[in-house]
Amino acid sequence: MSDMKKRAAEKAMDYVEDGMIVGVGTGSTVAYFIDALAAWKDRIAGTVSSSEQSTARLRSHGIEVIDLNAAGPLSLYVDGADECDPHKRLIKGGGAALTREKIIAEASERFVCIVDPSKRVDVLGGFPLPVEVIPMARSLVAREILRLTGGQPVWRDGVVTDNGNLILDVHNLSIVDPVGMERDLNQVPGVVSVGLFARRPADVVIVGGEPPLVL
Ligand code: 5RP
Repeated sequence: MSDMKKRAAEKAMDYVEDGMIVGVGTGSTVAYFIDALAAWKDRIAGTVSSSEQSTARLRSHGIEVIDLNAAGPLSLYVDGADECDPHKRLIKGGGAALTREKIIAEASERFVCIVDPSKRVDVLGGFPLPVEVIPMARSLVAREILRLTGGQPVWRDGVVTDNGNLILDVHNLSIVDPVGMERDLNQVPGVVSVGLFARRPADVVIVGGEPPLVL
């Protein structure tokens, strides 16, 4: 599968233009994108990173990382996903970086999502839905998730996000209304962000293959 990830990542370079500040996601597929971007580092104006992990990889290649507040609106964001439905709505957050990923996706004109074929599904929810929560609200949010969705929230033990928060992974969901579920969970006090990217889905999905499929 790593070969498929690499092919998707390299195809995403078609969307990088001279002088751009490029939003960069997190994960093993994005790692291939960062490696491909390294060859272009003198042609782009820099990057905005969604995690400490990606920042470290970008800097190891000598690629400049810029604060989003200084960068302003971005033309391009490239990131992976844990699941992708036919409407380009996503589950993300397997790498616990969902909040910063969502912020950068929102700030970007075009969101190019890079996946291997195993990530394509008809209905989201087979992959447990990550929810980032403020630590003191963990139990409250878990009870509300159960009440609102019927899914089983499981604390991702030992994981602290880059923002100092916790992750609940919600199992046993079949998400027929991703926009509604994203909205409802976002309103629970203590929820920082929900790993559903439905209100702001991807604009382009690249599925790794020979040749890659561009949706
Ligand atoms: C990180 C993410 C990743 O994009 C997602 O987990 C996919 O990762 P990978 O490319 O390693 O399969 O949302 O928070």
